[in-house]
Amino acid sequence: MRHSDYLIIGSGIAGLSLSIKLAEKYPEKKITVVTKTSEEESNTRYAQGGIAVVLDMVTDSFDKHIEDTLRAGGGLSDPEVVKMVVQEAPNRLKEMIEWGAAFDTNPSGKLDLGKEGGHSEKRIVHHKDITGYEMAQALIQRNDELKNVTVYEHFFAVELITEHHLPHREYDKNNINCYGAYVFNRKTLEVEIFEADYSILATGGIGQVYQYTTNPKVATGDGIAMAYRAKAQVQDLEFVQFHPTALYEPRKSPAFLISEAVRGFGAHLVHSDGERFVFKYDERGELASRDIVARAIDAEMKIKGVEHVFLDCTHLDKEEFLKHFPNIYEKCLSTGIDLFKDYIPVVPAAHYVAGGIKVDLNGQTTINRLYASGEVSRTGLHGANRLASNSLLEALVYSHHIFLDIVNRDMRTDFPEIPEWNDDGMVYQRELALINHSRHELRQLMSNYVAIVRSDIRLERALKRLKLIWEETEELYEKSKLSVPLCELRNLVGVAYLMIKQSKAQKSNAGGFYNIDLDSDV
Ligand code: FAD
Ligand code: SIN
Repeated sequence: MRHSDYLIIGSGIAGLSLSIKLAEKYPEKKITVVTKTSEEESNTRYAQGGIAVVLDMVTDSFDKHIEDTLRAGGGLSDPEVVKMVVQEAPNRLKEMIEWGAAFDTNPSGKLDLGKEGGHSEKRIVHHKDITGYEMAQALIQRNDELKNVTVYEHFFAVELITEHHLPHREYDKNNINCYGAYVFNRKTLEVEIFEADYSILATGGIGQVYQYTTNPKVATGDGIAMAYRAKAQVQDLEFVQFHPTALYEPRKSPAFLISEAVRGFGAHLVHSDGERFVFKYDERGELASRDIVARAIDAEMKIKGVEHVFLDCTHLDKEEFLKHFPNIYEKCLSTGIDLFKDYIPVVPAAHYVAGGIKVDLNGQTTINRLYASGEVSRTGLHGANRLASNSLLEALVYSHHIFLDIVNRDMRTDFPEIPEWNDDGMVYQRELALINHSRHELRQLMSNYVAIVRSDIRLERALKRLKLIWEETEELYEKSKLSVPLCELRNLVGVAYLMIKQSKAQKSNAGGFYNIDLDSDV
């Protein structure tokens, strides 16, 4: 049993920005971060474009950023949340800089601002095309300096501990408490109890539920699945954002992203003959919001019977491009594409989930003493579709709000006795291949039936096929000793079920959700 005052699950921007704040405020308290692989690995690390912050008050304004966010969200964002996040952005950015993150500046010494889809002004603060890496490194370094933060790498959170796990305890299903988590130590293969006064889920997204995704292998929706099993409210999982421009490399997972900032810099989406097509779908062309551009590409690929479209950078200023996007240039070159001469083959790929665990303005979930921040949460900021570069910002703002809320809360005076994880009679899985097959089947089924364009029949099929995978997975889970692949599969199945169920319940098209049976105009 390991006790901490604050247990943070996940080492991306949401988790690590919170651990810094708690550790700085409370040098005497014990802050624990568990993360399922290395501390570095997360969606955060791969963020390219940057973080949206209104800084130029002459041409830009908070109101414009608010308006752009609401428009991208298809009318389903919560205006109070949008206003709060947008207005707090400059302060959260300032903290990131104080923690050591460096952002690009222009010749006059001011922060250089880029542009991305759905933004009416330039407001994307960035570090070349590796903004996430820069921010993650700064957060990790600052955490390392703090003596009261312990980061447990290769510790996989399996279940949240609630009254459900306590013996002989009557409880009110509308008043559930979280006491920490059961966490699988990947080295000893034992499940340990991580008891905590307060627990914070910062486990990121769900991209791995799809075959083609920009998300790294760790993005398996664990936090959402755990919270749902613990009976927390989970909402809006039908709203998945597909990034329009992942590099087309059919057998590569995750897919390499060609940042939207490249379109913001002037690149065009074209067919092989050079024809630009996005203006047919939206007057903003390549800089319409992502849902629109991804759907336009999907439609064009179906019309032309092709597996990808192209991004044309050949007309762009070489020197400036290399200053902004050295990593993208190098990656393309490594696959044989000189983007100053060749078109880049691109396809949409699953990128971000707008829904998740429902939280209030303080990041509090519907379970007592359990908070959620970052991509795992559903705050109401994104509505039906996230505006580009609003998610690093959301994570910083909500982790800050959790910090402000938690510092006013009481610590526990007593803990119930938490039973050890019981795996008596369970056996080690002999065939990892079975788990891999199911994961593969699941990702295929979600890509075929629950992707950019859905229909009633596709959703029905998805549900029927998922049922079989679910039954087989549960059967395995009930008789096997834990393993990370099995837990991840179980979580992916759980998240897929919620995504399908919530898609079936969604009765109008908005943002990242499009069902042809609800609107046949596109
Ligand atoms: P993550 O950064 O994903 O961190 C989650 C952490 O939880 C990881 O450490 C993971 O290992 C850990 N974890 C998960 N499950 C468990 C478990 N069961 N037990 C223990 N640990 C667990 N957003 C922007 O705003 N701007 C951008 O430019 C941008 N570019 C992007 C580019 C790419 C390629 C991708 C994939 C995303 C991009 N995004 C961008 C989105 C943004 O990066 C993410 O939404 C954000 O980083 C999420 O941060 P997070 O802390 O919530 O989760
Ligand atoms: C990108 O650089 O295109 C990704 C930005 C984001 O996901 O917000």
